[in-house]
Amino acid sequence: MSRIVVISGGGTGIGLAVAENFVRSGDQVVLIGRRKEVLDAAAGRLGAGALALPADLADEQEAARVRDLLAERYGRVDVLVNSAGGNVVLGGGDLTTAELWTENFRANVLTAVLLTEALRGLLADGGRVLLVSSIAAIRGGGSGSYGAAKAALHPYAYDLAADLGPRGITVNVIAPGFVDDTEFFGGRLSEERRQTLIGQTLNGRVGVPEDVASLAHWLASQGGGHVTAQVLQVNGGAERGR
Ligand SMILES: NC(=O)c1ccc[n+]([C@@H]2O[C@H](COP(=O)([O-])OP(=O)(O)OC[C@H]3O[C@@H](n4cnc5c(N)ncnc54)[C@H](OP(=O)(O)O)[C@@H]3O)[C@@H](O)[C@H]2O)c1
Repeated sequence: MSRIVVISGGGTGIGLAVAENFVRSGDQVVLIGRRKEVLDAAAGRLGAGALALPADLADEQEAARVRDLLAERYGRVDVLVNSAGGNVVLGGGDLTTAELWTENFRANVLTAVLLTEALRGLLADGGRVLLVSSIAAIRGGGSGSYGAAKAALHPYAYDLAADLGPRGITVNVIAPGFVDDTEFFGGRLSEERRQTLIGQTLNGRVGVPEDVASLAHWLASQGGGHVTAQVLQVNGGAERGR
């Protein structure tokens, strides 16, 4: 049976690779992001199995609107992948410390928590919830506010896994290291820094969106059904460093 898979940040980078995997396995994907044109282009490439649903998920009313639309159209959600996020520090700009911490919290915590809470009542028994964190939540190196915001998702996932476990719903966190070919760095990553990040891996290669997407797809499979309340790192061993 085709699953209803909701993917925040599904128009670009890791979220788009996640969407490609689910479309390949015959599932219906719903791509959420703020930029309608980006989502429309991605959904167009993915074909009939994809729906573009523009929304700013840092806004509670927008998350509620998404819920209402999904409830009316599908009546359930089988898999929820929270990939929306990013490090606002990388955007440059002249933000105060309070603004940086607030904006990274909004971008990484509120986007995931507001969507997940809005969709809680729609989650099908045996369903899956995934949250995308970062290596920065575990070992630092994420400008302070970004890693801290991602780290907030971990205990949220543990508590949610306990709540939803009796219904056979698993909740896991994927914490990637450096992943190339996304909009995360907004074109601001120097080649020197890129090589440093690759050099921190134990397998000496860059991470790609598919590395994260294939794990997400497996966690959502029947085979992943006994893995819950975990933080799974995808970083070529970079957390250990060299
Ligand atoms: N790339 C890396 O090296 C790396 C490493 C560790 C963790 N991560 C995490 O992986 C996730 C995916 O990032 P990525 O690398 O694939 O970068 P990306 O291409 O920039 O993807 C982030 C996505 O989130 C969406 N988004 C951001 N804020 C949103 C909001 N308020 N409401 C709805 N959608 C929003 C963006 O679309 P709009 O701008 O159109 O809203 C975009 O599609 C992020 O959570 C990121 O923090 C990335």
